Amino acid sequence: MDLKAYIRDIPDFPKPGIVFRDITPVLAHPQGLPTVAKEIAAAFADQAIDYVVGIESRGFIIGTVVSHAIGCGFVPVRKPGKLPAAVHRVEYELEYGTDKLEVHQDAIAQGSRILIVDDIIATGGTAAATAKLVNLAGGELVGYGFMVELLALQGRQALPDVNVFSLITY
Ligand code: PRP
Ligand code: HPA
Repeated sequence: MDLKAYIRDIPDFPKPGIVFRDITPVLAHPQGLPTVAKEIAAAFADQAIDYVVGIESRGFIIGTVVSHAIGCGFVPVRKPGKLPAAVHRVEYELEYGTDKLEVHQDAIAQGSRILIVDDIIATGGTAAATAKLVNLAGGELVGYGFMVELLALQGRQALPDVNVFSLITY
């Protein structure tokens, strides 16, 4: 399946001048998520992944199907105030202001092998913050899997030195 043919460009969203890459037509296609899951899982097939860590909210959609394809666990990283038990929290810089992400302190067994999955990497700030949470929670980060990478923003430069895999680039 040609996934890129099912990503549509929405001009001036969420702000004037930004072209938003909308993945919802991929999700709507019956082969969309199975294709994404199979290809990201295949890229890390020899890595003995214990958990996929997915980032709220579009990262939950992609991350859960990847964890199912790998046959490993899934751990949600959530926006603040959503997780009920004790959390690790990181604050990270946005273009204007800061944002926060959280993970349960007991979400992963110590030393387990982690793949971070999200729908898209733009500046890399969200994924880099998630890597810090994985570290705080005692996981060993093995790599990142993204459906889409916006190359002009050089997000992978913000990420620690592990394998960064993306399926579709712009
Ligand atoms: C989007 C996207 C990534 C992040 C990428 O999430 O799903 O998580 O931005 O941007 P970055 O590489 O510059 O950090 P968003 O915050 O829009 O949340 P959503 O998934 O809930 O829509
Ligand atoms: N599309 C979807 N999500 C995003 C984008 C985009 O172009 N940029 C940052 N998050």
